[in-house]
Amino acid sequence: MKAIVQRGYGTDEVVSFEDVAVPVVGDHDVLVRVRAASLNAADWFTMIGKPYLIRAVSGLRTPRVPVAGKALSGEVVALGAQVSGFVVGDEIWAEPNGGAFAEYASIPAERVAHKPPSLTFEQAAAVPLAGTTALQGLRDVGRLHSGQSLLVNGASGGVGTFAVQLGKAFGAEVTGVCSTRNVELVRSVGADHVLDYTRDEFTGRYDVIFDLVGNHSLSRLRSALTERGTLVLSAGEGSRVFGPIGRIIRGGILSLITRHRLEPLVAKHSVADLDLLAEFVAAGSITPAIDRTYPLSACRDAVRRLGVEHARGKIVLVP
Ligand SMILES: NC(=O)c1ccc[n+]([C@@H]2O[C@H](COP(=O)([O-])OP(=O)(O)OC[C@H]3O[C@@H](n4cnc5c(N)ncnc54)[C@H](OP(=O)(O)O)[C@@H]3O)[C@@H](O)[C@H]2O)c1
Repeated sequence: MKAIVQRGYGTDEVVSFEDVAVPVVGDHDVLVRVRAASLNAADWFTMIGKPYLIRAVSGLRTPRVPVAGKALSGEVVALGAQVSGFVVGDEIWAEPNGGAFAEYASIPAERVAHKPPSLTFEQAAAVPLAGTTALQGLRDVGRLHSGQSLLVNGASGGVGTFAVQLGKAFGAEVTGVCSTRNVELVRSVGADHVLDYTRDEFTGRYDVIFDLVGNHSLSRLRSALTERGTLVLSAGEGSRVFGPIGRIIRGGILSLITRHRLEPLVAKHSVADLDLLAEFVAAGSITPAIDRTYPLSACRDAVRRLGVEHARGKIVLVP
C-alpha cells in the first residue's frame, strides 16, 4: 500500500510517499481502508522532533512509528478475533496513535467509532483529535457552562474552529482571536465577537480562556480573566527542549495562590467523546471547517501548509 513515511526529524524533506506493507491486524484491532485523514499540530511537532522531549517518546534519531497521522475516517475491511460492535463495511472515524497517513490502518477498536452518516469522509476525518481536544478543553478543564464568556485564542485553527462552535453549543458568549485573513472564517463558525490579533488587544474579562497559541504571558492572560476565571493551557509551543512544561508548572503554582484556575489540557482519545461529537454533528452544532484537501502523494505540500503557511481550520489528506 502507499503511505507517507517519515525517515528522520526535520521539515517537509523528511517525509516521502512510499510503498509499505499493509499493517497486521491484531486480535483487538480493526483494519480500515482509509478514505481520508487530517493533519494536526501534533504531526508537525512529531515531524520536526521539537520540543526535543518528544523524541524521548517517539524515537531519539528517527521516529519509531514511521507512518504518522492521528485522525482518520474510512471503511472497516477486517476485524481482529476479539473485536465486537463492528462489521466489515462499517463507515468509521477514529483517533489512532499514528498510521493514518496511509491507504490502510490497523487501529485498536477502543479508538474507533461509527462515523456520523451526514458527514463526508473528508469532513469526518477532520474531527477526531481536534474535536475531542476542543470538547475536553471546554468541558473537562474549562468547565464551561451556559451564560459564561469564553475567549478562544487561536480560533481559526484546527482545534479553535471546533472550540468556537462547541462554546456556542454550551451556551457561552464566544470571542475568537485570529489574524486578519481569518476574521470571516471565525465569524462564520459562530463567534459572537472576533478580535484580529494584528490590530486589536483583548480588553474584556472572560470566565474561560482557551489558549491554543501560547503567545501571551500568564499574567497577561490572567488580567483578562474574571475573578474566579479559568485558563485552559493547551498550546504545544514553549521552550526548545521542554515545550510548554515550564508554563504549565507556573500555572499550577499560580492556581494554588490565586483565585484563578490555570490548568493544562492533556487530551485523550475517547470513543464516548467521538459519539458525543457525532450527536453535536447530528444536531447541526458543529461542522468541520476544512482548509484544503490534498492527495496523499502531495504530503510535502500538505505539511508545509500545516507548519509554515498555517491552515485555516483542518487540512485533509485523501489516499
Ligand atoms: N493539550 C493537548 O492535549 C492538545 C491537543 C491538540 C492540540 N494541542 C495544541 O493546541 C494548539 C493548536 O492546535 P491546532 O491543531 O488548532 O493548530 P493550528 O491548526 O495550527 O492552529 C493554530 C492557530 O493559531 C493561530 N495563531 C497563530 N498565532 C496567533 C496569535 N498570535 N494570536 C492568535 N492566534 C494565533 C493561527 O491563526 P493564524 O493563521 O490566523 O495566525 C492558527 O489558526 C497547538 O499548539 C497544539 O499543539 C494541544
